[in-house]
Amino acid sequence: MTTGKPIKVAMLGCGTVGTEVARLLREQRHDLAARIGAPVELTGIAVRRPNKHRDAPQELLTTDSAALVESDVDVVVEVIGGIEPARGLLLSALRAGKSVVTANKALLAEHGPELYAAADASGADIYFEAAVAGAIPLLRPLRESLAGDRITRVMGIVNGTTNYILSAMSATGSGYGETLEEASRLGYAEADPTADVDGFDAASKAAILASLAFHTRVTASDVHREGIASVTAADIAAATVLNRTVKLLAICERVTGQDGAEAVSVRVHPAMIPDGHPLASVGGAFNAVFVEADAAGQLMFYGQGAGGAPTASAVLGDLVAVARNKVAGGRGPRESAYAELPVRPMGQASTRYHISLDVADRAGVLSQVAAVFAEHEVSIAAVRQEGRPTDASLVVITHAATDAALRSTVDKIAGLPVVREVVSVMRVEGEES
Ligand code: HSE
Repeated sequence: MTTGKPIKVAMLGCGTVGTEVARLLREQRHDLAARIGAPVELTGIAVRRPNKHRDAPQELLTTDSAALVESDVDVVVEVIGGIEPARGLLLSALRAGKSVVTANKALLAEHGPELYAAADASGADIYFEAAVAGAIPLLRPLRESLAGDRITRVMGIVNGTTNYILSAMSATGSGYGETLEEASRLGYAEADPTADVDGFDAASKAAILASLAFHTRVTASDVHREGIASVTAADIAAATVLNRTVKLLAICERVTGQDGAEAVSVRVHPAMIPDGHPLASVGGAFNAVFVEADAAGQLMFYGQGAGGAPTASAVLGDLVAVARNKVAGGRGPRESAYAELPVRPMGQASTRYHISLDVADRAGVLSQVAAVFAEHEVSIAAVRQEGRPTDASLVVITHAATDAALRSTVDKIAGLPVVREVVSVMRVEGEES
């Protein structure tokens, strides 16, 4: 029965995702109406240049996004991305009690609290499943299905471009630069790949994941961020020898300090993980997120993290949810930041390092290197040495220590006269510390 009054929807933007949203709304209108209990009516699509959108329903296009938001609509779907004008438009929608569905990770990671407060004040919904890991149902499970549990860790591959590049480097043995060029040529990397390769995209997603997982306000500036531009073919080769794989990881952890107080640690950086870890087999442009919770144990979410149709699937799912809430006369769960946990600086994060060195092969070298670890109270987990005619390759894997201590250790080792070259330094994740 679809007797309800139509749910009127305005869409801001009509790029790859918006075009798919409009198509799915049209093609699935009967099923959507039956699932919601009311028909969904797309009343307008705001774009900057209507003549660039020949595939979109022409009669719906407008350049006046502010007027569209102010018009008689129930829901605003935002797929333009970027901070402004999206922020202003969504605030004005929420303040007017209109529900919002957005895929805008950068906006949520920077201005989420302001948007959530506006939604709370007017009783509107704000849903954003598409903002993290595209089609993968992940945010709703964190916010709703796991709301009765205590999440301890969220670790994921949340950027397809970098995962494609690292997977290709691993498969071919090529360096970063040439692999990036090839990825751009094949359309796997944007013309300007900065947001992806420098980790900004993943950091925004990490901020959103940490906020939901730990009921704490985490913004993009709280996230320690390192991209993949410094990952070398030597790093990948070093990982392969040790049956490990290099991935760009977004890691959100609940940590307990020596005083027993809880905090969160949120970071994005490349790391080696064991080949047997579930994230190691996630290849190409796919995304996957590994969640650990006290009662649920380990969970893995996997799928397509980008692309028009996959992202539109998440947008449509949110649209159905907010439309159902409207039909029922209520709203969905609110954002919750009650825990207010502090965010720990990266220097205090507990990590493990893999360090590969070219050293002189003579008596006392190993003890000099080991002494630097001891001096910084970094415990060594494994050492592997291979002699060569005139020097030796020395690989050290540490136990967990503070990132600050590990960095100082590596700096000092690099300055030892017996160390010819620091070949590779990479954090190690996904195994016992
Ligand atoms: N550019 C992102 C990626 C997709 O490569 O995964 C959108 O977040």
